[in-house]
Amino acid sequence: MSTATWSKDHALALLEPLRHEPGPVLIALQALQAEFGYVHVEAVALVATFFNVSRADVHGVLTFYHDLRTTPPLANAIHICVAEACQAVGSRDLEKALKNQYKDQVTDAYCFGNCALGPAVMVNGKLIGRATAAKIAAVIR
Ligand code: FES
Repeated sequence: MSTATWSKDHALALLEPLRHEPGPVLIALQALQAEFGYVHVEAVALVATFFNVSRADVHGVLTFYHDLRTTPPLANAIHICVAEACQAVGSRDLEKALKNQYKDQVTDAYCFGNCALGPAVMVNGKLIGRATAAKIAAVIR
């Protein structure tokens, strides 16, 4: 993850190589997020103008894809599966405990395809099976 500070000039330099890409809005937003850690609020107008599409088009792409974020990243991204198989083995109790401890860093998710090893939790991209609060604490930054 990059720690570059948002700047319009820096963003424009990132967009320039994408000028002739087909359907460039998603690629542009991904590039901006990769560089700055998130999509800055000013990027919507910037991308719309640069690729001659409406702000609504850019906003639609930005809000459709859950991996795109409009705020700086949190210290940790904790996604807990609360789909049925994980609920059956205690993910709701674990969810409460994690939200008490890590608050807004915890987001619900719906099945990682790891149902046999539930409750499943993904911490900063790392999937943890048979998750417990102790296992999660061990991988938190
Ligand atoms: S239901 Fe939790 S990983 Fe599938």
